[in-house]
Amino acid sequence: MSDKGKSSKVSGFYKKSIRERIEFVKKFSDLTDEETNLFSSCLNMDIADRMIENVLGTFEIPLGIAVNFLINDKEYLVPMAIEESSVVAAASNAAKIARIKGGFKTKCTDPLMIGQIQILQIDDVVGAAKKIISKKKEILHLANEQDKVLVKFGGGAKDLEARILDSPLGKMIVTHLIVDVRDAMGANAVNTMCEALAPMLEELTGGKVRLKILSNLADKRIVKAKAVFDKEKIGGESVVDAFLESYNLAAIDPYRAATHNKGIMNGIDSLIIATGNDFRAIEAGAHAYASRSGQYTSLSCYYKDKNGDLVGELELPMAVGIVGGAGNINPKARLCKKILGIKTARELAEVVVSLGLAQNFAAVFALSTVGIQKGHMSLHAKNIAVMAGAKGKEIDKVATQMVKEGKIKLDRAEEILKEIK
Ligand code: MEV
Repeated sequence: MSDKGKSSKVSGFYKKSIRERIEFVKKFSDLTDEETNLFSSCLNMDIADRMIENVLGTFEIPLGIAVNFLINDKEYLVPMAIEESSVVAAASNAAKIARIKGGFKTKCTDPLMIGQIQILQIDDVVGAAKKIISKKKEILHLANEQDKVLVKFGGGAKDLEARILDSPLGKMIVTHLIVDVRDAMGANAVNTMCEALAPMLEELTGGKVRLKILSNLADKRIVKAKAVFDKEKIGGESVVDAFLESYNLAAIDPYRAATHNKGIMNGIDSLIIATGNDFRAIEAGAHAYASRSGQYTSLSCYYKDKNGDLVGELELPMAVGIVGGAGNINPKARLCKKILGIKTARELAEVVVSLGLAQNFAAVFALSTVGIQKGHMSLHAKNIAVMAGAKGKEIDKVATQMVKEGKIKLDRAEEILKEIK
């Protein structure tokens, strides 16, 4: 498949066998046989043993592929590692609808991370903060001495802020070191720089440095994705209005916003995990960003455009890397990055946020129309059928019967299984 003519748009992908799906991905992403064999392999025990402590084994979750993604006019197949049913199908469906109006468009800041250095026991915090700023050049120079490779690639410490905060222990200065981390997530580079700056900042301020650590509220590393969802395709004006009614609750009510944002993170986390990135860092940043106004609210926003189509936008910090970390060590994470065909951390971040928007649209669309249980239940019923001991064709038979009866329970699955045996 030539790069130019290739399309991620495919109908009935879920009906194909696993082998057929792998063949499709293999062609799309130019994978070797060795790479496709990785899909059914587990993480090597020696690698696992080097990644964390006290290793006993590995823990598997399904890896699926979301199809139909068109982002900034480029075709993507999106790997998703997730244990929840319906999520991959929902993302694919949303991406298919988004394509009608040109797919997802994104905007992205430079990959700037913040490192925090906390300085306490200072007599004159205002004077000390001024001193820090006056020595900005020297401080940035010392920070950049710590990572010459990053600087060579155009990254490195770029700016400095001195924030004065009041606490029950008195006033303190929190110095923010702003670092362009290029294609890395950046935690290691930033933490190393912050630690190296501590003695210099103590000397400058006469205070005592305590914390020296990256902030996961990466609000200088923001990605925004936008898509237009065709009014006719989603069921007309009344559905657009119903969607906006649902969305508005997430905008005003933290109880709904938490669930709404969880739906966004269903998509985001699954790609973050598939590429070996740190999903706790992304979660922490996302929810802190959702509270930036002082009230926790929706990370996405929706409105009608002049044609009456539904416009969706999602904006959040996206601290992802394509070099270093678990994403380099885990062969399956490397494979997922190859499937995506991404060249930079920025591109990965743009795909992640587009996926989050697709996922959010799909969930709110379902909730505003048929509800989500319909989609969830058929796969859930299959799982219950398997738990009851169904095998091969029995699984579909037991599941279909339970869905028909609206009773998806283990005891009922066991009864049906007995009846059909
Ligand atoms: C379930 O995993 C996610 C949803 O609850 C998200 C939402 O309510 O928007 C369906």
